[in-house]
Amino acid sequence: MLLEVSDLKVCYGDIHAVEGVSLSIGEGELISVIGANGAGKSSLLNCVMGIVPSRGGKVIFCGRDITSLPVHERAREGIRIVPERARVFPRLTVYENLLAGCFGMKDKISFPEKLSWIYGLFPVLEERKSQLGSTLSGGEQQMLAISRALISDPKLLLVDEVSMGLMPVLVDKVFEVMEMLNREHGLTILLVEQNALASLGISSRSYVLETGKIVLEGASGDLLKDPKVQEAYLGL
Ligand SMILES: Nc1ncnc2c1ncn2[C@@H]1O[C@H](COP(=O)(O)OP(=O)(O)O)[C@@H](O)[C@H]1O
Ligand SMILES: [Mg+2]
Repeated sequence: MLLEVSDLKVCYGDIHAVEGVSLSIGEGELISVIGANGAGKSSLLNCVMGIVPSRGGKVIFCGRDITSLPVHERAREGIRIVPERARVFPRLTVYENLLAGCFGMKDKISFPEKLSWIYGLFPVLEERKSQLGSTLSGGEQQMLAISRALISDPKLLLVDEVSMGLMPVLVDKVFEVMEMLNREHGLTILLVEQNALASLGISSRSYVLETGKIVLEGASGDLLKDPKVQEAYLGL
């Protein structure tokens, strides 16, 4: 397994946001964690990245216990996050945002090569390369946030609600990109989403998170047919 999370707990004071979550993802997999607003999806993902501390449990990455490593060291090992609401550096240009994505990597990557690959994926970023992050539309910021994470050639990409706040046409586009990155480039992706239909549609396996606990897991195709999932998450 590339990533193994066992019995992970996250608290904010008295609030138990994640209450003993275990999940795993193998190299080359695309899996999703679906859950309603407030279920603990961001807390879980941020804890795997090291942005919020754990109150218990373990995070094992490439066979190594990284539970107590700081964010930059996890990034160095090859974990990257596309944060919720596509946070990009507002006062840096598109180009500088992408450059920032390469800092502190263990393995040398060819920035110009990666940059032309990114510009090929999202031509609009090349058109806007000298524009400040703050001047991009929501959809463009989302593409920039994804690209900034991709440019370092991560081993594991954590994606927090990539569809949030986007127009439906852009939602389709970013999910297509996720699927393509997984299929064609073998990128391992862990998605967390409220958009259950779209994320079950592109992932092979999924977990259902409710108030900090995994209540259901299985092949995404089976979950799509599960009456409980249909009622609670697909509005059927
Ligand atoms: N920084 C914080 N301080 C206090 N409570 C928080 C903080 N972040 C999240 N929470 C609480 O933790 C729970 C899980 O939140 P979150 O992980 O953001 O869920 P999701 O991403 O699924 O919407 C919620 O009850 C939320 O209010
Ligand atoms: Mg969230």
